[in-house]
Amino acid sequence: MSTPHNRAEKGAFAKTVLMPGDPLRAKYIAEKFLDSPTLVNDVRGMLGFTGSYKGKPVSVMASGMGMPSIGIYSYELYNYYDVDNIIRIGTAGAISEELHLRDVVLAMSCATNSSFARQYRLPGTPAPTCSFDLLRTAYECAGRMKKSVRVGSVFCSDVFYDDSNSLAEWKKLGILAIEMESAALYLTAARLSKNALCICTVSDCPLTGEECSAQEREKSFDDMIIIALETSADITR
Ligand code: HPA
Repeated sequence: MSTPHNRAEKGAFAKTVLMPGDPLRAKYIAEKFLDSPTLVNDVRGMLGFTGSYKGKPVSVMASGMGMPSIGIYSYELYNYYDVDNIIRIGTAGAISEELHLRDVVLAMSCATNSSFARQYRLPGTPAPTCSFDLLRTAYECAGRMKKSVRVGSVFCSDVFYDDSNSLAEWKKLGILAIEMESAALYLTAARLSKNALCICTVSDCPLTGEECSAQEREKSFDDMIIIALETSADITR
């Protein structure tokens, strides 16, 4: 069995998949943190691996950047590969003044400027929301690791180089950070009765121009990866 974007055999993915945006990040996670990682997909370089963490099977596969990309890969993982849980692990730009470089955000819900939800032809606006079970488990895992995390709403944008300068408006609504994938992931999970969570590390502050160095990114990324892996080991479904 394969899809246009995934050559893995049916059953090649674990019930929980961690999804960084970058394929090389997926390889790094598989090689550094998983036991016996096996490459299961490399179509378009979108590397996917399955191995185990603390004795439990877990997969890691890249999503690419932006909502159309994660929309494709998450749909196929849920719908064709019987994946139950997708935990996106990525970077975000801080919007709230209370957030600082390297802080970790658990995205409970997302605002978005995307038209992704138009496909559902709703007579109103949906509210892309994470899985409560994944959120609670990730929050508890972070607590055990003594890693403080912020929980709240993010702005999921279709545009990286954005002429609209709208971040100050989103800030007024209490939005914590900006990223580009959560809304499509949460809507896809909702439509297919599956579970999703987006965990983000703050890599930059677009309103002040602050940015992490490559080394700082790596260290803070590792904390987030461990929160996601501990969550995968703890959840019961
Ligand atoms: N914008 C959108 N996505 C991001 C950003 C940003 O500034 N930083 C990290 N992901």
